[in-house]
Amino acid sequence: MSSPQRVLVTGSRGKVGSHVVGALVEAGFDVRATDIARPVYDAHESNAVPYVQADLTEPGDAYAVVHDVDAVVHTAGIPEPTKNVAHTVFSTNVASTFNVIEAMIASGIPRLINMSSDSVSGMTWAHRPFLARFCPIDESHPDLAHDAYGMSKRVSEILCDGFVARTDASAVSIRPTWVLTPDTYAANLRPFFEDPDLPSAVFWSYIDVRDLADLAVASLTHPTPGHEVVYAAAADNIGGRDLLADVERLHPTVERRPVSRVDASGIDSSKAARLFGWVASRSWRDELGTDGTPLKDARS
Ligand SMILES: NC(=O)c1ccc[n+]([C@@H]2O[C@H](COP(=O)([O-])OP(=O)(O)OC[C@H]3O[C@@H](n4cnc5c(N)ncnc54)[C@H](O)[C@@H]3O)[C@@H](O)[C@H]2O)c1
Repeated sequence: MSSPQRVLVTGSRGKVGSHVVGALVEAGFDVRATDIARPVYDAHESNAVPYVQADLTEPGDAYAVVHDVDAVVHTAGIPEPTKNVAHTVFSTNVASTFNVIEAMIASGIPRLINMSSDSVSGMTWAHRPFLARFCPIDESHPDLAHDAYGMSKRVSEILCDGFVARTDASAVSIRPTWVLTPDTYAANLRPFFEDPDLPSAVFWSYIDVRDLADLAVASLTHPTPGHEVVYAAAADNIGGRDLLADVERLHPTVERRPVSRVDASGIDSSKAARLFGWVASRSWRDELGTDGTPLKDARS
């Protein structure tokens, strides 16, 4: 297996997809982009790579854009279940992944990076809240999602199992936890700084979008057979808390497992490190002070 050269990024106008496009271009890949978002017809920085608008829930659109590449990074979809009706969340995520995979098989494209979610484990959007069985969460945790979003992501991974069973192709499902960008750290994390006891369904884990984009690149440059599923999180946790002490204090029924640092993430990304040589290098500490105030405000 050699590294792919030509890569199609779906959902390229989104938070994750746009950063994946940037990281792939930076790494020297020949990148094409697609999204349901309206094209920009004039000269514009978003036209830096070839772009075609397509609704991937439509098989015809998927077949029309998914071809003549060596790999697909599939980030298109609805990223959480609270701002769209449930059947739209489920059907968009499942149908788009199904159609992308069918088109990849038709075109003989051998590598898929599927942007799944930590929500496959089920705690984040649970209608009947429950806790993870153990902390930190890793790939051995059961997949317990019962909400429309989490289930759509479970199904996307099952579709990847089918993809590699039917063909000689390979796939990686990346399960990012909460994805943050430099301009969203402060507002998103403020509640956790205001209330250190605020619980988190995934034990205060998060990931910087630039680290996630780097993992997508690493998943392409380190070929793996079959379908691998990997969690992806920053090395540390929100607020730099003593992870196991806070789990014991706030979630005493959760089994606590060894961690490599006191302020470790509640999600263990060591499988991604092992397979792809990837380690998250960014932290909320690069953006915020210890009280959650943006560092750039303090500097200006
Ligand atoms: N944001 C997070 O915290 C997070 C966490 C875990 C996993 N993920 C996953 O990462 C992926 C990207 O999430 P994001 O945060 O960038 O979301 P986003 O909404 O910013 O980007 C998703 C993109 O998909 C496009 N899209 C939606 N429906 C489409 C369709 N039918 N056809 C083609 N394109 C379509 C949207 O236009 C958008 O540009 C999603 O699969 C999401 O489930 C996100």
